[in-house]
Amino acid sequence: MIVAIDGPSGTGKSSTSKAVAAKLGLSYLDTGAQYRAITWWMVGNGVDVDDADAVAAAAGKPVIVSGTDPSHPTITVDGADASGPIRTQEVTSKVSAVSAVPEVRAVITELQRSIAADAAHGIVVEGRDIGTTVLPDADIKIFLTASPEARAARRSGEVKGSDVAATREALIKRDAADSSRKTSPLAKAADAVEVDTTELTLQQVIECVVTLVEERRSGTDGEQRRDAR
Ligand code: DC
Repeated sequence: MIVAIDGPSGTGKSSTSKAVAAKLGLSYLDTGAQYRAITWWMVGNGVDVDDADAVAAAAGKPVIVSGTDPSHPTITVDGADASGPIRTQEVTSKVSAVSAVPEVRAVITELQRSIAADAAHGIVVEGRDIGTTVLPDADIKIFLTASPEARAARRSGEVKGSDVAATREALIKRDAADSSRKTSPLAKAADAVEVDTTELTLQQVIECVVTLVEERRSGTDGEQRRDAR
């Protein structure tokens, strides 16, 4: 069972994906963390993230390893724990530039596909291009959305002392960059189920996604479900 969960930031993707994976006994992969990890490496190794040629030339150098236990996801770069540093403001502001470079996407996409192929009991993979590009044959694709206000309020609740208006502006800017890049932009796959989380609690989103996955797993979704009634 391969579950692809895409959507912009602040829609509850990570919390939902981890909880759904834990509930269903699946592995979990945060692909945003991988793009953040390669960005952290670039910054630490003096690569100018606005120089796409320099970023492309270095794309294959860092060794990124993701631990896929949903109750304890981990990420290391060249053996060093990157889970803290990848969440800094500096990395957040630079990750869109790095993740727009096609050579970076090629390296990270290959890594993601091999992790998904190795997940013996199935996996929940969250990101921006999982349903469209990384795993187009996923068993189920979910696209989470929410209003910019709800997303900014959630994100600023996660970051101590942050201002909602500034967070909203930064989110909109990052989503615009992620949606307009040429290589595999943030997009809803044609066969994805869209879930608007604006008015839902995290618990309700988790229940909704678990139900969608279980229906798909037992083949009772869509037409078959209606026929069975
Ligand atoms: O989910 P996140 O905010 O941690 O993701 C960080 C950045 O990584 C995001 O701005 C866009 C990029 N990203 C991507 O381009 N493709 C993915 N599959 C996941 C994230």
